[in-house]
Amino acid sequence: MPDAHPVVVFDAFGTLFDVHSAVARNAATIGPASVHLSEIWRAKQLEYTWTLSLMGRWEPFWRLTERALDQALARSPEVDPIVRDTLLASYRALDAYGEVPRTLARLRARGARTAILSNGDEGMLADAVASAGIGDDLDAVLSVDRVRVFKTDPRTYALVEAELGCAREDVLFVSSNRWDVAGAVAYGFAAAWVNRSGAPDEYADLAPQATIADLDALP
Ligand code: LAC
Repeated sequence: MPDAHPVVVFDAFGTLFDVHSAVARNAATIGPASVHLSEIWRAKQLEYTWTLSLMGRWEPFWRLTERALDQALARSPEVDPIVRDTLLASYRALDAYGEVPRTLARLRARGARTAILSNGDEGMLADAVASAGIGDDLDAVLSVDRVRVFKTDPRTYALVEAELGCAREDVLFVSSNRWDVAGAVAYGFAAAWVNRSGAPDEYADLAPQATIADLDALP
């Protein structure tokens, strides 16, 4: 179990919000290719963040999310592209994992401050937080929009100290994305990896303080 830090910062997509729920909700329409479609959508969305950042370029995460879906649909000829708009609308109202509201409330009850630090642009984050109804239990919602570069650039993690006025050692960073945990640890945060699917570990030199199965395990 990780230490009880005074500031707990969550990644958004994949950690608080289930990115595969957009496709899962429409699986009956999409058919048997739905799991594959969702995986390509997510993988391309992330790939575009890394390639753009390496080029020193920037575009809002929503635009990358749209392009990634177009690529996933182009690679899935068996899926009728008419689902595009429905999937994008579903992505603006993703399901939060079941334990998210009680976790945020519990952390706040012990006096911790809570925040999101996400690649998501301000509009996407506002929609996700509103549809999950968790805005009252978050002290800050930080988008990398403010530095116009994506994780794992250190400038993104530095937003936490700058915006929350805390010290680096105050922070526990929580992500289900192992590459994001690696970025946070490289920056100097303690981190917890939420490994819901029991994936094998990677980035061994950049280890989390703890690996947890879900957010109920946070102190
Ligand atoms: C985010 C990406 C990693 O929310 O999904 O920052």
